[in-house]
Amino acid sequence: MEEHTEMPKHIVRLSLLLVVFLVVAFSAKAYFTVDSFYKYGHYRANSVPDIAAPDPAYRGPAYCALCHVDRHTQWSSAGHKTVKCEVCHGPARGHPIDPNDPNKTAKLPRPTAEYTKTLCTLCHMQLTARPQRDPPQQPWDPAIGKSVPWNKGVSQVIPDEHSAGQPCLFCHDPHQPKPIRIKEEPAQVAQTPPSSPDKH
Ligand code: HEC
Ligand code: HEC
Ligand code: HEC
Ligand code: HEC
Repeated sequence: MEEHTEMPKHIVRLSLLLVVFLVVAFSAKAYFTVDSFYKYGHYRANSVPDIAAPDPAYRGPAYCALCHVDRHTQWSSAGHKTVKCEVCHGPARGHPIDPNDPNKTAKLPRPTAEYTKTLCTLCHMQLTARPQRDPPQQPWDPAIGKSVPWNKGVSQVIPDEHSAGQPCLFCHDPHQPKPIRIKEEPAQVAQTPPSSPDKH
């Protein structure tokens, strides 16, 4: 009797299929993985310079201080010193130079009086869930032997009651919100920072 040595047909087909699958999978992996992948780790190394390339949108109050000295001095001594300039004026980007055209100047938005009704109430509208600045009488906690701790929040008003719908700017200076506004002369603006290396 002849011994049956050949593999069964379905096993041969299955193995073939597996080999084809592996070949396709490995070539696809080699083809679709970009060159710089795995250079430093499990990510595309070239994405690092890509991400670092765009100019920063926000520059921080120290940048504004280079030219708007008076405004910065006033702001940093008053109740809004934790609210950065660009929160109200938007990202500086190239200001005062237009990022798309170095021959043009670009102003940052100067919020209108009417708009302060929206701007200021973003943070100062009285809301039940918003922590108050000044704590009401807190209940005594016997477990810790003192009043329940208070997380200091922001001062809040009900605009209709507080100012009868008048724009906040009528009475408050945004850069020095307290005491109540004394209208002053426009601040001095330096055209270039005092220590600017260019434009000499
Ligand atoms: C290199 C100098 C420079 C820097 C830095 C600078 N500014 Fe200015 N800014 C100017 C000049 C110049 C004007 C135009 C002044 C004008 O024509 O009244 C201006 C105008 C403005 C205006 C519009 C004033 C208006 O009356 O419309 C705002 C608001 C302003 N800057 C805010 C900022 C803020 C916020 C920053 C920081 C993120 C900043 N600036 C940084 C020079 C600068
Ligand atoms: C709480 C919001 C707020 C913050 C924070 C703020 N500003 Fe203003 N800023 C305003 C509003 C509102 C006006 C318009 C004032 C007006 O028309 O009387 C204005 C006007 C200005 C102007 C143009 C007119 C002027 O008064 O000189 C400049 C320049 C300016 N801001 C710069 C700054 C700088 C620099 C900072 C940070 C140091 C800053 N602002 C922070 C809301 C803000
Ligand atoms: C991004 C949030 C934010 C915006 C927008 C904002 N404020 Fe404030 N404001 C604060 C914080 C934070 C404080 C400091 C905590 C406090 O005193 O309530 C403050 C403080 C104040 C105070 C009390 C200052 C003091 O010295 O006791 C007044 C008044 C005030 N803001 C008015 C305004 C007006 C008017 C505007 C619009 C021009 C405005 N705020 C926009 C966050 C904001
Ligand atoms: C008609 C004038 C007037 C208008 C308009 C006005 N306020 Fe006031 N606001 C005041 C006065 C007066 C005080 C009390 C100031 C003080 O205690 O020194 C005050 C106090 C505040 C305080 C609390 C400051 C603190 O120390 O507790 C906040 C916050 C405030 N206003 C926000 C606003 C906002 C937001 C708007 C716009 C919706 C606005 N105000 C419009 C006159 C006004």
